[in-house]
Amino acid sequence: MIASTKAEMFLTRLDELMDHADDPAALAMRLLAETLPHFRWVGIYWLEGDALVLGPYVGEPTEHDRIPVGRGVCGTAVAEGKNQIVPDVRLVSNYLACSVKTRSEIVVLIRQGDQIVGQIDVDGHEPGAFDATDEALLTAVAKKLASYI
Ligand code: SME
Repeated sequence: MIASTKAEMFLTRLDELMDHADDPAALAMRLLAETLPHFRWVGIYWLEGDALVLGPYVGEPTEHDRIPVGRGVCGTAVAEGKNQIVPDVRLVSNYLACSVKTRSEIVVLIRQGDQIVGQIDVDGHEPGAFDATDEALLTAVAKKLASYI
C-alpha cells in the first residue's frame, strides 16, 4: 500500500534523478528500495528470448538469475502477459524462492509498445504486502524505464 502523495513525490524525484543517471534502471531500483520499506527485494528481469535475465536489484543475492518463461511467478507474468500480485507465496505451487523470509510478491511487466521487454519484481516479508497502489506506482516506473531503453 502506497499513499498517493508519496507515489507522486517518488515519481517526481525519480524523473529528476533518472535524467542524470549512468544506469537509470539501477537508480530506479535503489530509489524504490530506499523509499518503500515494504519493498524487501526489488529488481529487474530483462526478457531475452525465452528467458528472464536478472538485471539491477537491491536485496539478498538470488540464485534465480535466469528464469524460463512460464516458470515461477516471474515467468508466469510473461507467459500470461499479465502483472502478478501474490498475497501468499506459500500457496503458489511453482513459486521460486529467493529468500525464506518472503511472504508476498508483485511482478509488473515492462513493455515497449505491445512488446514485453522485462519486468520489475518485488518481494515483501508480510503476507498481502502489495495492492493496486503498488501496481500503479510500479507501472509508472516501468513506463519510465521503457523510455530509457
Ligand atoms: N519469486 C520469483 C523468483 C525471483 S525472486 O523472487 C528474486 C518467482 O517465483 O518467479
